Amino acid sequence: MTTKPAASHLLLSTPRRPPPPPPTSRLLLHLSFFLLHLHCFTSALPHQLSRGFSAHPSSNPPPPLSSSSSLSFQPILDDPTGNFSLGFLLLPSPPALLHLAVVHLPSALPVWRAAPAASARWSDSASLSFNGSLIFSDRTGAVLWSAGGSPAGDRLVLLNSSNLQIQKLSGSIVWQSFDSPFDTLVQGQNLTSSATLFSADRRYSMRLGTNYVALYMAAGTNTVMYWQVTALEERAEIVKGAGPIYARVDPLGFLGLYQNETARVHVMAFDTFNRGIPGFRRLTLETDGNLRAYYWNAYSWVPDFTAISDVCELPAHCGAYGVCTMAKGDCGCLDEDRTGDGCLPSDAGNLCGGKFWELRRTGVELPYKDLLVSQKVGSREECESGCQRNCSCWGALYNNATGNCYRMDFPVETLLATGDRHRVGYFKVRNARSGKEGKKEPLVGLVAVLVVGLPVFAGVAMFGAYRMWEYRRRAGGALMEEGISPGSYKEFKNSSSFREIELSGSGR
Ligand SMILES: *[C@@H]1O[C@H](CO)[C@@H](O)[C@H](O)[C@H]1NC(C)=O
Ligand SMILES: *[C@@H]1O[C@H](CO)[C@@H](O)[C@H](O)[C@H]1NC(C)=O
Ligand SMILES: *[C@@H]1O[C@H](CO)[C@@H](O)[C@H](O)[C@H]1NC(C)=O
Ligand SMILES: *[C@@H]1O[C@H](CO)[C@@H](O)[C@H](O)[C@H]1NC(C)=O
Ligand SMILES: *[C@@H]1O[C@H](CO)[C@@H](O)[C@H](O)[C@H]1NC(C)=O
Ligand SMILES: *[C@@H]1O[C@H](CO)[C@@H](O)[C@H](O)[C@H]1NC(C)=O
Ligand SMILES: *[C@@H]1O[C@H](CO)[C@@H](O)[C@H](O)[C@H]1NC(C)=O
Repeated sequence: MTTKPAASHLLLSTPRRPPPPPPTSRLLLHLSFFLLHLHCFTSALPHQLSRGFSAHPSSNPPPPLSSSSSLSFQPILDDPTGNFSLGFLLLPSPPALLHLAVVHLPSALPVWRAAPAASARWSDSASLSFNGSLIFSDRTGAVLWSAGGSPAGDRLVLLNSSNLQIQKLSGSIVWQSFDSPFDTLVQGQNLTSSATLFSADRRYSMRLGTNYVALYMAAGTNTVMYWQVTALEERAEIVKGAGPIYARVDPLGFLGLYQNETARVHVMAFDTFNRGIPGFRRLTLETDGNLRAYYWNAYSWVPDFTAISDVCELPAHCGAYGVCTMAKGDCGCLDEDRTGDGCLPSDAGNLCGGKFWELRRTGVELPYKDLLVSQKVGSREECESGCQRNCSCWGALYNNATGNCYRMDFPVETLLATGDRHRVGYFKVRNARSGKEGKKEPLVGLVAVLVVGLPVFAGVAMFGAYRMWEYRRRAGGALMEEGISPGSYKEFKNSSSFREIELSGSGR
């Protein structure tokens, strides 16, 4: 890893340039420039920064961190081991945005990022400054993100654990990045009940409850719990009123749940639990909704724990109204008229005041059905009608063998195909877009295209004809291609009615 040369990109803000020195001191100046460069290439970045510090991104983003990574990173502050750096990160995912991040340099992996609103275009007038608070501003000077506050800190320190701290001179901690996790918990980092771990796209989250840790999916404006581990309380019991529990990845290879340091209430063991693996560990909530643990073996991150082992059990593996076939992981659609990527569009909110049509499918279930509201009912009809009448219900799953009825109070995502004929699913689909009734829509769409489109076409044609006439009049009849405006087709393509036709056309 050659990260040190990047240090020369670091532009510390300096006072206005001094006047040119007299010729006698030129040699000295050259010498000091040489030494400065040498310094930049040989010594590490600082491990701590004092009040008054500020840094700017270089005018061009530095080259990618490694051949296998597309991240550009400009370090500002190193930890004492040189394993971690705080700096400006350019994430390539479109649009490429500037973030503030702590990166594990050997793997080019960001282990912490400032909250997602804290991103901007890469610009050398963006800045990170420390005046007691840490302040990340965009090129206009607008504050994107800040940390600390009162009391004001005296120094910014990056610890060898990857924890970024604002400290007082006394060593007391004013703020630490460990308390505001992004998508990763590293070993030794506490996840408290007041913090949330999010996937990088913010769709999934991990939070603690009174006696459990759980994963949630955002489905429209709702959230649904799809994975939960309840504390076994083997070594210690959770005492009511003795404070909330917290979680921490242990170097021995487990996620521990604690009520206090002496009261460990649960051990969620990783594969290498207690096998003496010295590697640095992390737990990451990934963008597929899975929670995975890894350890660093000096070359790569070795997977060590996966919360959900079958992809079909991921809550959105096949998208909205999708069906996943167990073991094979193949995706299909709940609506058997549709296949592949053309399932029904995802929805949000509830159906109160809106119209819907109904879809039934035998042999499907939700892997996390036991986390849903359920009740015993006498028949499938009873299960369905309870959902049908309630506009915050999007679907119901009935098990004919047990009489259990599970209610889905969130927009329909991926279901699991089990082939079990006892299980029947009932789902609502909003009327607005193409669907069963929507099969008439192509006609409606066509009418819309004609109604909206004809005048446009007529206008374009008349304009074209006018231009042609004008040109012919001036240039004596030579043909001009410009008259046929390409904009007219584009306008059509962008109109929603046209898209609807394309959608229903490709959805088959
Ligand atoms: C640091 O700067 C911010 C933004 O300019 C300001 O709001 C804050 O009061 C400053 N803090 C101190 C301790 O000067
Ligand atoms: C990290 O720092 C702590 C205390 O500052 C120290 O005890 C520990 O040995 C360090 N770990 C590594 C890997 O340098
Ligand atoms: C984690 O929480 C425990 C108990 O509150 C505390 O003693 C410890 O210092 C915390 N660790 C970090 C890194 O904040
Ligand atoms: C930790 O919690 C247990 C109850 O689970 C309690 O008995 C014990 O006194 C607590 N210890 C401390 C140091 O608070
Ligand atoms: C940190 O650096 C040391 C030595 O350079 C290395 O042995 C260790 O694996 C590194 N740790 C991490 C987490 O990268
Ligand atoms: C509809 O379902 C929601 C969510 O389960 C529930 O809170 C509400 O009471 C139900 N409304 C009726 C009228 O049953
Ligand atoms: C449900 O169970 C009843 C009796 O066990 C059976 O007659 C019926 O066909 C089953 N329906 C379905 C959809 O499996």
